[in-house]
Amino acid sequence: MKLTLSVIKADVGSIGGHLAPSPELVATVERHVREAGRELVLDVHVGHTGDDIAILMTHRKGTGDSGIHRLAWDAFVAGTEVARAQGLYGAGQDLLKDSFSGNVRGMGPAVAELEIEERASEPFLLFAADKTDPGAFDLPLYLAFADPMNTPGLLLAPRMTKGFRFVVMDVQHTTQDRVIELDAPENLYDLAVLLRDPERFVVESIWSRASGAQAVAVATSRLHNIAGKYTGKDDPVMLVRCQMDFPATGEVLAPFHLGHLVAGGMRGSHQMPLMPVTLGSPVSFFDGPPIVTCAAFSVRNGKLVGPVDAFAHPFWDAVRREVAEAAIRIRRQGFVGAAMLPMSELEYTGIVEKLGELEKRFRVRAEK
Ligand code: F6R
Ligand code: MG
Ligand code: MG
Repeated sequence: MKLTLSVIKADVGSIGGHLAPSPELVATVERHVREAGRELVLDVHVGHTGDDIAILMTHRKGTGDSGIHRLAWDAFVAGTEVARAQGLYGAGQDLLKDSFSGNVRGMGPAVAELEIEERASEPFLLFAADKTDPGAFDLPLYLAFADPMNTPGLLLAPRMTKGFRFVVMDVQHTTQDRVIELDAPENLYDLAVLLRDPERFVVESIWSRASGAQAVAVATSRLHNIAGKYTGKDDPVMLVRCQMDFPATGEVLAPFHLGHLVAGGMRGSHQMPLMPVTLGSPVSFFDGPPIVTCAAFSVRNGKLVGPVDAFAHPFWDAVRREVAEAAIRIRRQGFVGAAMLPMSELEYTGIVEKLGELEKRFRVRAEK
């Protein structure tokens, strides 16, 4: 019988600005899932990354199950009550609809799900990022699943040499899901052409071409496409299966040493390097830098073992220092040029409104 891994995450309030949820809020969300989900889920893990709470559930209901989605939604509603009572900032921020209607997709929370044939040993990684958007995972996934410079398994492991199938979503197409399938390595340049623009083209899933099994699921929601206005960056989660047919855990983690520039940081409107941090880290400098955590699990008959905090190793201290330097470096140029996102991606309307006023004051000078 197939096993489903579902991770559903939301920001429903945090302490001291958009930094981190309170322990009481996290505990309430977890208690709700454990108590109300007793008949539904096999196991649960609740953690937080910056101001976002991620609920990981194992169960037999398949992806997009309304009972599972409602369980997470109701847990976030219960959490919102605590956030309100405690006066936390942004209470209920990511719950964009008043009532639940079948599936949390399009309602604010981010969701990534994998329905799998559980292997005798099933190692997988739960990544969660704060102060950035789902395109932040494009480059690490490209490197881990398509580039032998990062992933020697693409050359060395016979089950991986057939490559991987990428499903890429056009997240600017808001009326329906608009997707394309591209096979690596044959379509590598086509893939690169799309992933050049991570604000529009987001890797949604990756599949082994040897076995047909799904390796990756990424949450691809765009909050401002749902709400029609700024409501916070999308702060994505993703699930990645590792080892055997898939890249080794270390091959999946390796690209995060880059600290590549992603959209996000202060007011969701800047380019900042992505910093790998330990589980439960808050955000800080310039409402960032954008952060990513990685919780490594094994699962057996739906029972979770872990997590191991994959970015807690001393190696990542050196990376964090470099990323902090890169963050300071780009912040030196403030609002100018590449430091701030292009107009289409600005999450606040101030600049657009101001430009509208200034347009009226421009004069075309008569030629002499
Ligand atoms: C970024 C983010 C923060 C806020 C900023 C201002 O995703 O959440 O950087 O944009 O702290 O927040 P408000 O507008 O709520 O005062
Ligand atoms: Mg927030
Ligand atoms: Mg957040």
